[in-house]
Amino acid sequence: MDSYVIEGGKKLYGEVRVQRSKNAVLPMLAGALLTEDKIVLRECPAITDVKIMKSLLSVFSKTASGEETVTIEGESLRASLPSYLCAKLRASSLFLGACLAVFGEVELPLPGGCAIGKRPIDLHLSALRSLGVSVVEGEGFVRCRVTRRRGGRVVLPYPSVGATENLLLYSVLSEGETILSGVAREPEIVDFVSFLKSMGAKIRGAGESEMVVEGVSRLRGTEYTPMFDRIECGSYLIACACTGGEIEILGNGLQKKDLLLAKLRQNGCKIALGNDKIQIKASRDKMPFSLRTGPYPAFATDLHPMMGTLAALSGGESLLVETVFENRFSYLTELERMGAIVHRNGNFAFVGGGRLHGATVLAHDLRGGAALLLAGLSAEGKTIVLHPEYIDRGYTQPEIKFASLGARIERKPYE
Ligand code: UD1
Repeated sequence: MDSYVIEGGKKLYGEVRVQRSKNAVLPMLAGALLTEDKIVLRECPAITDVKIMKSLLSVFSKTASGEETVTIEGESLRASLPSYLCAKLRASSLFLGACLAVFGEVELPLPGGCAIGKRPIDLHLSALRSLGVSVVEGEGFVRCRVTRRRGGRVVLPYPSVGATENLLLYSVLSEGETILSGVAREPEIVDFVSFLKSMGAKIRGAGESEMVVEGVSRLRGTEYTPMFDRIECGSYLIACACTGGEIEILGNGLQKKDLLLAKLRQNGCKIALGNDKIQIKASRDKMPFSLRTGPYPAFATDLHPMMGTLAALSGGESLLVETVFENRFSYLTELERMGAIVHRNGNFAFVGGGRLHGATVLAHDLRGGAALLLAGLSAEGKTIVLHPEYIDRGYTQPEIKFASLGARIERKPYE
């Protein structure tokens, strides 16, 4: 088993380039099933989730080649989705909408992903039902079939990102107009819609809570560069706030009004946004803050664990309220081993302490694992983070990027 070994206490200085967005690339890879023309995705991040989505595409006889520039081509042929691959990531659920659009039916083994909550797909299924898809739920799988391929109107009771993407994947090739209400407004959804539009899809209202899709009979190939990864970008910003120092991030995925920037400023950081870059200067005196996660434009749940690390390093007590995933807090148990003071009750936690010391800690999921990397970089002494494979799901070589900023971090086999 590998581990990250970190000698903490070095401030971060220099510049770092962020990858393209994991959460934008994954639905685009599923979207490649919708055409037999060539799809080229430029600057794809070299992360495990992308590799698994490429393997899933090959199940349908598509060739998905290349690392940084991924080219997907070939006829999409009907096939069974293997459960061992679907169990590896949540985004495998996106083959639901894509397969229904292309083949009219699909048997989807229930998707996996990080253990940060129950993560059911009931909203995907009830929305598809209301568009004329029959759904049979079995033990560990769901079988869906198109009974009438027509548009319609769907109202999502919660703006699920995955359900919104599945509805888009399904309805772009439907007949007539589909009105999608209560949908997710995340920037990755807007980017995914731009990608689909570059294939010839007709969609209005991306970024708003109602979108209108006018079905087309075929989609064409495209070449597309996904947006920068706002979560990776945010992770480096928070890392600098945690360790101290001053860094420049090339490839800004954040918008001016992003709540992360407001929270970091509340903590005392100075931030300057430029065109496709962002600079941060950490504060010596870290002030406490409060945040409440929620669907966009609320604070991103994916950035919450890293802010938990910052809270543990800040003066006073910070309040973290998690409203999206019920098991997001598992990283806090590990932070406590490093000296954080935590009072947790249900979906909120008060976190403080002011300093961290090194320890051997366990990543339980992708973003919780990233929070522990930040903790190790900021702690006094040596930290070993076990289970880096969770971190590999969303970050391209963080040890190299952090080392280029002056951190003492290595990836090594754990003895
Ligand atoms: C996506 C992101 C993930 C991010 C999340 C919220 C990808 C690949 N992943 O995940 O990084 O943290 O959005 O911004 O883009 N839910 C249900 N029933 C459903 C669907 C969702 O109860 O049918 C619940 C989930 O259990 C969760 C909440 O709704 O508690 C949010 O889920 P959703 O927005 O669907 O997130 P994902 O698409 O899984």
